[in-house]
Amino acid sequence: MIRAILYNSAIDVHYKIPKFGEQADFIGLNSVSFPAGKAINFAKAVKILGEDVEVSGIVPSVDIARFQTFLDGYDIKHDLTETSGNTRINATIFEEESGISYHLNSENEPIYESEIFAFNEKLLSKAKEGDFWAFSGSVPTGFDEEIYRNLIENCKNKNVKTALDTRGNPLKYGLSASPFLVSPNETEFQELFCGEIKGLQHIILKGKRLINSGVEYAFITLGKDGVIALHKSECFHCSPPEMHNQVNSVGCGDAFLAGAVVGFQRGFAFREVCRMATACGAVNTLTREPCKIDLAKVGQVMEQVKIENI
Ligand SMILES: Nc1ncnc2c1ncn2[C@@H]1O[C@H](COP(=O)(O)OP(=O)(O)OP(=O)(O)O)[C@@H](O)[C@H]1O
Ligand SMILES: [Mg+2]
Repeated sequence: MIRAILYNSAIDVHYKIPKFGEQADFIGLNSVSFPAGKAINFAKAVKILGEDVEVSGIVPSVDIARFQTFLDGYDIKHDLTETSGNTRINATIFEEESGISYHLNSENEPIYESEIFAFNEKLLSKAKEGDFWAFSGSVPTGFDEEIYRNLIENCKNKNVKTALDTRGNPLKYGLSASPFLVSPNETEFQELFCGEIKGLQHIILKGKRLINSGVEYAFITLGKDGVIALHKSECFHCSPPEMHNQVNSVGCGDAFLAGAVVGFQRGFAFREVCRMATACGAVNTLTREPCKIDLAKVGQVMEQVKIENI
C-alpha cells in the first residue's frame, strides 16, 4: 500500500484576471477551488497511474467532509483525523496579459500538540512491511521540526519504505534518518547545503553526499531541465522533452514523486523509475489542477525522456 501523509492541508483557489494595475477591484471573477496539500496532489497522481493509495492526515473539522468527498471522487482511500481551527487558503492568480501565475501561500493555524501526538500514534499502527509512505510538504507552524525523522525511523523498523519531499529543517532532520528516497528541488537542495550550487557537476558532487549519508535514491529536480538521479555509484541526468501548451507549474514535484514511488512499488529498474517520474512531472505542466495528469500522455512522454549516464 502506498500511503500519503497529509499534515498541511489547504484549500487552493485559482483565479484568472486580465491584468493587474488597471483596476483595483475584480468583481465576479471565474474561480475554481479544491482541497490541496502536497499529499493530496501526490495521491491523485498515484491513483491515476493505477496504484492503490491512502491519504492519512489531519484536516480541520470544518472542512473534513469536503476533503473526504473530494478524495472519494478520485477513488482514493482516506483516513482523516479532525483538528480544530480553519484550513489555510492558497491562492493562485493567473494574469492573462503577462502569462504570470502569482502564488499566495498562507500559514496554517496552530495545531494542538495533543492532536498531533494522537494522530501519529494511530498512523504508526498502520505501518505494514512492504508499504511505501510518502512524507511531503512543509511542516505546519508549531510542529516539531523533527517529526519526519521520527516517523521515518519508525517506518524503517517496520520495513516500510519512505520518501521525503520537504525543505528546511524538516528536510535536514529527516535526512538523518536516511529515508529510502528524497526529492528536493534545486532551491531546497541549495538551502540544505546553505549556498549556491551551480552546474550539474556541482549538484552531483553534493548529491553524492546524500547517498553517502545513507539515502538509497536521491533525485534533485530541476524543473524543465529535468533531474539528477543518484543511487549507489550510478548517476543519471534525465531530461524531459520541451512541453508545449503549458498551463501550470504547481505540483510537478508531487507528480514526479508519484511516478517514482509507483515505479519502485512495481519493481522497475532505476532507469525506468527515472523515466516514468520525469514524464509524470512534465505532463503535470499540461493540467490546470495539480497532478490531474493524463495517463496516455505520460506514456507518450516517457518515450521522449532522455537519460544520460554521468
Ligand atoms: N516546464 C517543465 N517541462 C518539462 N518537465 C518539467 C517542467 N517542470 C517540471 N518538470 C518535471 O517535473 C520534475 C519536478 O519539477 P520541479 O523541479 O519544478 O519540482 P518542484 O519545484 O518540487 O514542484 P512542486 O513543489 O510545485 O511540486 C522535474 O524534475 C521535471 O522532470
Ligand atoms: Mg516540490
